[in-house]
Amino acid sequence: MKIQFNPDFWWGTATSGPQSEGNFGKKQMSIMDYWFENKPEDFFNQVGPTITTAVYKHYSKDIELMKGLKHNSFRTSIQWTRLIADLETNKPDPEAIAFYRSYFEKLKTSHIKVVVNLFHFDMPIAFQNIGGFENPKVIDHFVAYAKICFQEFGDVVDYWITFNEPIVPIEACYLYKLYWPKICDFKRAIQAAWGTLVAHAKVVNAFHLLFQSDPHKQIGVVLNLTPAYPKSDNQADVQAAQRRDLMFNRFFLDGTVKGTISPELVDLLEAEGHLPKVQPNDLKQIAEAKIDFLGVNYYQPARIQAPTEIFEGPLMPEKWFANYEWPERRINPHRGWEIHPKTLYNIAMDLKENYNNIPWFVSENGMGVSDEGRFRNESGQIQDDYRIDFIKEHLYWLHLAIKDGANCFGYHLWTFIDCWSWANAFKNRYGLVELDLETQNRRTKKSGEWLRNVIENNNQIE
Ligand code: BG6
Repeated sequence: MKIQFNPDFWWGTATSGPQSEGNFGKKQMSIMDYWFENKPEDFFNQVGPTITTAVYKHYSKDIELMKGLKHNSFRTSIQWTRLIADLETNKPDPEAIAFYRSYFEKLKTSHIKVVVNLFHFDMPIAFQNIGGFENPKVIDHFVAYAKICFQEFGDVVDYWITFNEPIVPIEACYLYKLYWPKICDFKRAIQAAWGTLVAHAKVVNAFHLLFQSDPHKQIGVVLNLTPAYPKSDNQADVQAAQRRDLMFNRFFLDGTVKGTISPELVDLLEAEGHLPKVQPNDLKQIAEAKIDFLGVNYYQPARIQAPTEIFEGPLMPEKWFANYEWPERRINPHRGWEIHPKTLYNIAMDLKENYNNIPWFVSENGMGVSDEGRFRNESGQIQDDYRIDFIKEHLYWLHLAIKDGANCFGYHLWTFIDCWSWANAFKNRYGLVELDLETQNRRTKKSGEWLRNVIENNNQIE
């Protein structure tokens, strides 16, 4: 197998502020900080967001390492809770501005395109306590924070992202009690999802107004797409898969790329009396907010069947569909997630055919592995051939998709250096570079060297 990508293809990795910066400088409390302070036992080995890759201190050295691995692009996020010193007045913190400015400038002078995300699950606790994005006041604060980011860093950063995986806090915070505040309330989940979409749209519109004369400035969103495959061709299974797809993929995909909401989803929610409260200008804002590009985080598809039992109790999406375990699925034994690279091709064709072939890139893809120390060679380097195979297979399908007309311009792996993750902390390691938690030493894994060779070898994979 020989595949080749364009010379200007984006190669790089992604992380987020809360997962990499560490406990330095001043910061307001996010839901994650608050959660850890109150329930450390929820976190793997009781390690919270205070222990990370400490990028706040080490970014300069890390960018040198990134250059060594031939990155031409990289995504991270600004922490709302770091940038804004006073959440009431939206007053920024000069120390935080200086840190982000220096970090982004170093990337730029190293010829690494920096993609900056404004929100990676890190709602300030003070705002979550008044309803998060359910509350229009919080949306206004978010827009004010975004405008400060554009004004402060717009000269250094060309590529912006409003939200990373906006559906995840809806599921994790509002439906399945996975992340703080661990609510289980479908109606509130819908309101928060609506508020998130409105916040996204207002930020996109503000951005386009600010940078209308500069075609280099672009804004998009990062969505985790999980195509839903029905168990069978039976109408009930097919309908269940469609409903799962509407809720977990199409709501944000249609809302951000087309500026519309699917009428089928509106009908479903209306039938349950679960339509969100809509403010006078919301629909107009959403319709006008066309993104310039899309980021797709792809890990695994969803396998869906019709509900197997009569649903009782307060409404949950499970009234409409149930998960099922496809017997033929290949599983990453460490993370329990299915490995199905061909789905990346299917996503690409969907974007080509149904979303006006919007320019997009793979903004996250990766393999989480626990206890990776087992795979060291004599010199101590992690031999992560499983990760190399994982990447190769995904790139194979991506390359076929590009041949078939997909408008994909890059591939970012999750992640550069093993980083802290929500609740799972350092359980699943994803990095091209290993982090020694004791010493903070970094050591490139075999996969990091492999990817560097791909890029050096004219973007060609054997
Ligand atoms: C992605 C998120 O979906 O999954 C990241 O964007 C997260 O923030 C990653 O760290 C891995 O998650 P986990 O739970 O396997 O550590």
